[in-house]
Amino acid sequence: LGSIRVDVSLVPVGSEITVMWRGGPVFIRHRTEEEIAEARSVELNALPDEDARNDNLPAGIPAVDANRVLRPEYLIVKGNCTHLGCVPLGLGANTGDYDGWYCPCHGSHYDTSARIRRGPAPENLPVPDYYFESENTVKIG
Ligand code: FES
Repeated sequence: LGSIRVDVSLVPVGSEITVMWRGGPVFIRHRTEEEIAEARSVELNALPDEDARNDNLPAGIPAVDANRVLRPEYLIVKGNCTHLGCVPLGLGANTGDYDGWYCPCHGSHYDTSARIRRGPAPENLPVPDYYFESENTVKIG
């Protein structure tokens, strides 16, 4: 109950999908090598929110990209802006100034690790509880 399974083989590299889980959107982005490298090049002290906010890992660990994903190519985050809950835009619409997501409600920019970089949102997009049941199947929740 409350879990969903997603076939990530349906998400080609360089694209993303939004799935619904427990009444809210979840973004699944299949990141390119460039997006991963960009996320990994950021110093922790450049981040407004230094907390990884990953439900799969201990609370309070640093928001380095490696702590935001279970597999580097798949970034999976809850899709409500941490400011006032709008659903940020992403690939194909507007990825903002840091190539991740852009929330048009009040101008929050998220990076390729879905970490807040600029704007009023106080926190990184949180990573839900999930794991890979198999190579291509992720179970969320
Ligand atoms: Fe996203 Fe305000 S709800 S910036």
